[in-house]
Amino acid sequence: MLNVVILAAGKGTRMQSDLPKVLHRIAGQTMLSHVIQSAKTLHPDTIVVVAGHGAEQVKHAFKEQSGLQFVLQQPQLGTGHAVQQAVPALLGDDPTDTTLILYGDVPMVQPETMQRLIEARGQGMAVLTEFLDDPTGYGRIVRDETGAIQRIVEHKDATAAEHAINEVNTGIIAAPTVLLKDWLARLQNNNVQQEYYLTDIIGFAVADGVVVQAAHPQHEWETLGVNSRVQQAQLERAWQREQAERLMVAGVTLADPARLDIRGSLQCGRDVFIDVGCVFEGDVVLEDGVHVGAHCVIKNAHLGQETVIHPFSHIDQTQTATAVSVGPFARLRPGTQLGDQVHIGNFVEVKNSQFAAQAKASHLSYIGDAELGQRVNIGAGVITCNYDGANKFKTHIGDDAFIGSDSQLVAPVRIGRNTTVAAGTTVTKDTADNGLVLSRTSQVYKADWQRPQKVK
Ligand code: UD1
Ligand code: CA
Repeated sequence: MLNVVILAAGKGTRMQSDLPKVLHRIAGQTMLSHVIQSAKTLHPDTIVVVAGHGAEQVKHAFKEQSGLQFVLQQPQLGTGHAVQQAVPALLGDDPTDTTLILYGDVPMVQPETMQRLIEARGQGMAVLTEFLDDPTGYGRIVRDETGAIQRIVEHKDATAAEHAINEVNTGIIAAPTVLLKDWLARLQNNNVQQEYYLTDIIGFAVADGVVVQAAHPQHEWETLGVNSRVQQAQLERAWQREQAERLMVAGVTLADPARLDIRGSLQCGRDVFIDVGCVFEGDVVLEDGVHVGAHCVIKNAHLGQETVIHPFSHIDQTQTATAVSVGPFARLRPGTQLGDQVHIGNFVEVKNSQFAAQAKASHLSYIGDAELGQRVNIGAGVITCNYDGANKFKTHIGDDAFIGSDSQLVAPVRIGRNTTVAAGTTVTKDTADNGLVLSRTSQVYKADWQRPQKVK
């Protein structure tokens, strides 16, 4: 049996925020949700979140997630006291049953590290520790002359000799559940901060003859905690740098790995190029040879091979086939599907529409709720009038149709194959194939026209 306890009751004073600290975000996702997601990959039997400050808000943020229990810690009397609140929810009475303790404000610990810590505990318990050049503020790992862990001393309670220890407690612990409950019940608060320290259980374990092992994170950034917006930004950068490196190792060229933001998952094929200032959100797939220009925002999209996104484009819930060209300054909204070699030019907005192969909308258009055949050409300024103020309607445009500039297609409407819509036409009725549609007042010309004069 595996229990996960996530401590998330602290105030986060230094965030200077009305939002509970664990609801602040890293890579577009709340810190607590990173921890929960990573914990879930271990398939624990329970996940208990200890909430306190802003508990209602924290609970509300996860109301849709199954498999979570919330317990309230009020007031907050220390990390040991926090875990005590979770005790009634902890399952398992066998010595092999484990409780893993995580922190809502240490969001990027990787599942592999959690797994390693759990394995390191063996029959005893394990602490995730690391070695810091500047260990100030952290609890120190005190070892005996044989190197065995004896106890953890908090910075504020430590002697000068103990301050020199640079192996620190990250706070993350894997313990046998049955013994943990017993140790928690024995905690006292006779220390400088008058708190119930979770770290005191290490001393109890040693006294009870339980071996305490250390495990270490693979990456330094995994155990970076967030107590301020400065630390939040530092962790964000460290995480983004890691994402950027992963992409480059997999064969992606980044114009500048420091100017890329991935808020979700980005999967790339080979020889993908990403220019500076791009933001990727949700699940994005870029197939081989995709080129993304500078300052694009791409969300939940699948871009096919050799697709080129020119700078300053905004793309959401869109799929492209091969060699599609988009932008600059294009907006592709949810439900956009573009076939092979489709071209979407500048200041074109597309929503819930399908373009068949080689269709084009090169300039200044709104195409919504439309189905376009192959090689359809949309002239500048064409608008599908898909909304009557109450309902939305579809526009169908047959293969090879040519829609002249500044035309309006009033939906529901069908334009036949190879139809020519003359510039400036308002199409309100379905058309057959191969014809010309024109609705335009004929031109009037008056020679030597005198403009009106201002009345004195
Ligand atoms: C703790 C550890 C210290 C370790 C450091 C790593 C203890 C006593 N000390 O110290 O050894 O080096 O983390 O960052 O455990 N929390 C609650 N309820 C409380 C108190 C804290 O939920 O009553 C939560 C906080 O929200 C936070 C975490 O526990 O997420 C750690 O609390 P914090 O006060 O930051 O502990 P430190 O003093 O930094
Ligand atoms: Ca802390």
